[in-house]
Amino acid sequence: MIKPIIAGNWKMYKTPKEAEDFALKLKKLPVYGDRDILVCPPFTAISCVSRILADTGIYVGAQNVFPAKEGAFTGEVSPLMLKDAGAQFVICGHSERRQIFKETDDFVSEKVKAVIEYDMIPILCVGETLQENENGETFSVVRRQLEQGLKNVSSDMIKNIVIAYEPVWAIGTGKNATPQQANEVHTFIRSVIQKMYGDVASSIRILYGGSVKPDNIDSLMAEREINGVLVGGASLIFESFTRIVDFNKLM
Ligand code: 13P
Repeated sequence: MIKPIIAGNWKMYKTPKEAEDFALKLKKLPVYGDRDILVCPPFTAISCVSRILADTGIYVGAQNVFPAKEGAFTGEVSPLMLKDAGAQFVICGHSERRQIFKETDDFVSEKVKAVIEYDMIPILCVGETLQENENGETFSVVRRQLEQGLKNVSSDMIKNIVIAYEPVWAIGTGKNATPQQANEVHTFIRSVIQKMYGDVASSIRILYGGSVKPDNIDSLMAEREINGVLVGGASLIFESFTRIVDFNKLM
């Protein structure tokens, strides 16, 4: 049985004070033994959120990283700094980074490697654009992003990686992939990892992201190959995030 992760990606929302208020509310949640909860605040709020959530079992992650220990990289943040601030997970290759900041598969693979080297868990994001989807290129795009993004990951390291399938056309659009569509791509993702690494693929967590909301979480989580979700907009509001955390599959 794979333990699911419910992850919130706060993107560029919440000041440190707003993040602190949110974390203080999260701290009061009951402890869930059957699922992991993760929040990924902006860089400026990681240390205060991780201090508040220490000892709660709720994980804290970062949304990005620069793959070097330190150096003359103005405006960037290193894996060492993230770890020291309390991050345990790092989102790598989010489609907003690929599209807006022109991150390549190669650069994403460097990030994945750097995150692992600092004993944090990368969440490698993959997913096709609307045009790629309409051209029938979903599987080839996802395969390329996986093969390239994981190219620095050895078979010893793969078991710690989390994959997030986020079809770009579903992000922030209110148009989620149907649970069946997502499940089909997740099944494909697992088969690619199986080809690359063997049976360890069956224990890798594959999250779905893209317009996850309280009213679609239960049907998404009912799918066999969906091992959690990466939530944007709906993770910013305490009530909707906690409803998503509370999905009823295992209860
Ligand atoms: P939305 O949930 O706002 O569609 O965002 C999804 C996402 O990009 C999570 O990383």
